[in-house]
Parts: sequence; structure tokens; C-alpha cells
Amino acid sequence: MNKEHDYYNEIKNWDFSDINYSVENLTNWNMYEILNNNVNKDSRILDLGTGGGEKVLKYFPDVKEIIATDFSEEMIKTAIENLNKSNRKNITFRQMDNLKMDTKNEYFDVVVARHTCIDAKQIYNTLKINGLLLVRGVDKLDSWELKRAFGKGQAYNDKKPISLIDYENILDAGFKEVELIPIHIREYYKTKDDLLALLLKTPILFDFSETQNNEQLNMEQINLNILDKYIERNTKENGILLIRRYYGIIARK
Ligand SMILES: C[S@@+](CC[C@H](N)C(=O)[O-])C[C@H]1O[C@@H](n2cnc3c(N)ncnc32)[C@H](O)[C@@H]1O
Repeated sequence: MNKEHDYYNEIKNWDFSDINYSVENLTNWNMYEILNNNVNKDSRILDLGTGGGEKVLKYFPDVKEIIATDFSEEMIKTAIENLNKSNRKNITFRQMDNLKMDTKNEYFDVVVARHTCIDAKQIYNTLKINGLLLVRGVDKLDSWELKRAFGKGQAYNDKKPISLIDYENILDAGFKEVELIPIHIREYYKTKDDLLALLLKTPILFDFSETQNNEQLNMEQINLNILDKYIERNTKENGILLIRRYYGIIARK
């Protein structure tokens, strides 16, 4: 497939429980709360780019049917293992590319896309009339001081923030009641190793469109002098500060 696919295939899960960090939420927008408030036991939910199913298994409500998809076969393998260890029912994990969706038309009550790419028109088609789309994404200015210090990273060279691109595409696809919410979060990493573990696992310092390499960053590719200076400037009482910029979108078909 492509570099992004190979990158996630290599990572195999989206579990951060080994990293010691705390979160200070500055925005009152909780996607799972909205999801829970908009379904009932007869609902059908589609989760796009589900990773290892970590969020679906933990936060999604019990409903008639949940289909959770990812283009990485390794992620889906992990998700099925996680499902088998859980006591959740009515959940199917399977491979699908978000940009080549093969789900039925007018089938789902809610489509969720958290930190993954979307094709708004295809989502529109698979939703029932009045169905809900919930998106949460990582915006251009996420971890900006860090990306600026390294001079690279996810969306670093984007002319237009991805939040606006998604918002406009969702409007163009025909959705109504479309709302875009900027989400501000402060994370505090306990130690340098915790911050490094995050940088080695996520694409924060990685730009899929520019890097030749398919694989995750390795230690040699992270300039530790730059990182140490960042840590010096950002060490607070609770740990090493990383300012996160996400966005949420709610839209109705
Ligand atoms: C950052 S992880 C987020 C996982 C999960 N949604 C969560 O919030 O924990 C992004 C996931 O999207 C998947 N992904 C990226 N591009 C995709 C595409 N075009 N089609 C399907 N999955 C994709 C990756 O394989 C990865 O598992």
C-alpha cells in the first residue's frame, strides 16, 4: 500500500499504557460522551482507523452492531486478539481502507473517525439519514514548539490546517449542522524516556509525505541536543510539558 500503511503495520497497536504522563484538558469536548448520548441499543456504529481496537473496546457503548476497520492487517490482528480477551459482543474488526470504503449505503447511525484520515462523501453514503459523524483529529499546530525546534513533523509544512480541510470537505459532502471545535490539551511527561517513547511511537516528528523511510523513527533520527533543550525550556512541576492541539467535528447527514 503506502508509507503510512507500512508505518502502522510496524507499530501493530495504539496502546500508550506504558508511557507515564498526565493530561490537563482545557476544552470541554468529549467525543465518547457525545457518542454515548447519541445511540441506543438498536444503533449501528462504524469506527474508521480503529488501530488495535483499544478505544472501541474501552469507550464505545453496547449497541446492536459495531464494525471497526483499519487498513493495517497487523492492527486488525491486534484488535481481534484484544476482542478475544474482552467480554464485548456485537463488535467486528476487519480490514478496510478509509479512502475505499466498502460498507453498505445508509447503514450506520454513527461513524467515528479518531486520529485517522477520512473521505467525507463515502462516510455520507454509509450513514443513515440523520446519522451522525464524529471526527477527532490532530491539528497542524499540535506539539508546535517541538516540531519547530526539529524543523519537521506531522503536518509541519501544510499550507492549510487539516481541521479546516476536513471541515470544508464535510460541508461539501452535504452534511448539515457541522461544528468544528478546537481542542487544547496539556500533557506532562514524567521523564525524558517517557517523552522519547511517545516520539518513537507516534508520527509527531514524522511527515509521511516527505520521509523516504517507511519505518518508525529510531533513536538516531532524533537529535537529542534539540530534545534536551526543549526539555530544559518545558520542565514544569508536573513533568515535561507538551501542548497538544486537536480538533473535533460533529456533523449530521
Ligand atoms: C493514530 S492511529 C488511531 C487509532 C484509533 N482510532 C485511536 O484513536 O486510538 C491511526 C490509525 O488509522 C489507520 N489508518 C491510517 N490511514 C488509514 C486509511 N487510509 N484507511 C484505514 N486506516 C487507516 C492506521 O493504521 C492507524 O491504526
